[in-house]
Amino acid sequence: MWQVHYNIMVVLDLTFGAGGHSKAILLSVPDVMVVAADRDPIAFQMAQRLAEEYPIQAFCRPIIVFQLTSETRNSVTNM
Ligand SMILES: C[S@@+](CC[C@H](N)C(=O)[O-])C[C@H]1O[C@@H](n2cnc3c(N)ncnc32)[C@H](O)[C@@H]1O
Repeated sequence: MWQVHYNIMVVLDLTFGAGGHSKAILLSVPDVMVVAADRDPIAFQMAQRLAEEYPIQAFCRPIIVFQLTSETRNSVTNM
């Protein structure tokens, strides 16, 4: 059985906005994964575009994008 170990840093950018911080991190930190989210659908679209710019490259620098829906927001705020 093969086991492969990668050392990557995972950054959560939960207020993605225009993505300036996420992009700066992707450009300056090697082997980083940015997980981006934002409640604003326009920001979410911008995050998707940035994710297309940084497809998975040997498990480095991918972005996983998800959107906070009103349902998930409520479940977080009701905890
Ligand atoms: C000032 S902008 C962030 C700027 C971003 N860091 C950049 O580099 O462009 C703030 C963002 O946070 C988002 N936001 C604020 N509160 C939020 C919440 N509770 N859940 C998800 N997104 C939120 C807003 O929709 C907005 O896009």
